[in-house]
This record gives sequence, C-alpha cells and structure tokens, in this order.
Amino acid sequence: MSGSDSERLSVALIDVNPGREAEFDRLATAFAAILIAKNYGSSEVIRDEALPHRFYAVRRWTDANAAARCHADPEVQAITAKLYQLARIMHVVNGVKKPDALRLLLDDRRAGAEADRRTGFDRRLRDAGSPTGAERRLGRDRRLGPRRLRDRAGQIDLVAAARRAREFADAAYSRFRVGAALETADGAVISGCNIENATYGLTICAERVAMFKALSEGHRAFTRIAIVADTEAPTPPCGACRQILWEFGGNLEILLANLTEEKGNHALKDLLPLPFDARVL
Ligand code: THU
Repeated sequence: MSGSDSERLSVALIDVNPGREAEFDRLATAFAAILIAKNYGSSEVIRDEALPHRFYAVRRWTDANAAARCHADPEVQAITAKLYQLARIMHVVNGVKKPDALRLLLDDRRAGAEADRRTGFDRRLRDAGSPTGAERRLGRDRRLGPRRLRDRAGQIDLVAAARRAREFADAAYSRFRVGAALETADGAVISGCNIENATYGLTICAERVAMFKALSEGHRAFTRIAIVADTEAPTPPCGACRQILWEFGGNLEILLANLTEEKGNHALKDLLPLPFDARVL
C-alpha cells in the first residue's frame, strides 16, 4: 500500500499473556490478512526486543472510513474479542479517533442543555446540613455548587463523574469519602467509590473499585482517572491503587480535585517511579 494524505495510522502496545504467543501470532496473521483482503489497510506486528511478551501493532488504514468499516466488521470484531482475552492492549496512537457511540448518545441527550445544568438529586442550592442517627454515616452533605457533565462539548467532565461517584461512598468508619472516574480509551467512563467494612482491612479504595469494575466489563485500555475527596489539599491515590492503576492502566493521567476545584494533574509514572510490574517477572 502506498502512503497518501488520507492514510491513517494506529499503534497499539500489546502485552501477550505468557504461553499465549502462538495463538496471538495466529490471530495477528489472520487480522493482517483481512485488512489486505478487504482493502482496509495493512497491519504489522513488531516484537519488542527487550520484553519477550510485548509487541507493537502498527496499522495503516487506507483512510478514516476504511478504519471505521474495519472496526464494524464482524469478522474483525471476532478476532479482536479473542485478542483481548489473551493480551493486554493499550492504544497509544489512534489516527482515526472519532466520538464513539456512547459519546454521541450523550451529546444527543445533552444537546441544548447549558453546560452547568444541575440534574437529578443534586439540584439543591443550600447545604442540607448534617444528618443524624442512621443517616449519620452518609456524612455531611456538602453538595452546594453546580454540577457539570462536561468541560466543553465532546469532552467528558471526569471530575464531575468522580464527584457524583463519591456520593455513593460507604465510609462509615473513616468518614473519608472518595469518588473516582476512569476513562477508557474509547471514551466510556467507569466510576467507583470507597467501600469500607467492619474489619477495616477489607476496605477498598474508589480507584480500585473503578478499575476492577472496568476490567470486569471487558475494558482493557484507559486514558485518565479523576479522584475526588472533600479536602483542601489534593487526595492522591494510595500505594496499592497506584500499583493496580499502573498494571492495568499504564501511564494514566491522574486528575485530583475536591468538591469545588481541580487541585492537581499528574502522570502516573511520576507518582510511581521504578514500578514493579510484569516486566520484572
Ligand atoms: N481512600 C480512597 O478511596 N482513595 C484514596 O485515594 C485514598 C483513600 C479511602 C480508603 C478509606 O476508605 C478512606 O479513604 C480512608 O483511608
């Protein structure tokens, strides 16, 4: 295929589960054959010389439409589904990124709604006060400001999603409620909140709830996570969460915020230097 202006490039980083290399090889070969046969483009898989299970899949799409047709092709989807079962795939270059169906749906639903329209149970303008008795564990309701779904058109407001997730936190012991919202590479948002337990030790943080929910729903590539707590200083993810986020999400962008302001923006690699991961095993 000769290069042209309409050609688009995608690159995915693929960590094949140990022992599944032969299957991966067969799927990659079948995938490349379909791309050529149906004139979608071409695909080349490059092995990382230093890391035995790591590969780079370089796809050159004939044009953006060919990529879209390829992604909608059931034969391709069957191969991709199998690939996701035997490898972790992170999309590092996406030359044909378009708003996905979920975003379009949200855009449609939101068309005409002003950016800071408050919805649902969060319409109140005044502090609802501190609950007492059985309600006490829900903590003081400090949702005062407007809630926005998006920063701007087409861009999901992850911080707002994390604030919303925080409402469901079950922090009866620490009273420290945290919300998280994880964005997948294809634009879906998976939320989480911390959930505590009488043994204390079985507590699970908001970030890990979000990540495990996402993984259990088949998501394997992530771009950002927002973390929200009701603190003046930003609440960074704990060590255990950094490890899990790194292993499954790679170098995520980490947005830290409280109930009213954004407080920080970090690359996960800076929060977890010298990580322990599959590469060391
Ligand atoms: N927590 C989180 O959910 N995420 C963080 O980043 C820090 C800590 C939770 C765990 C526990 O329920 C409470 O906050 C106090 O540590």
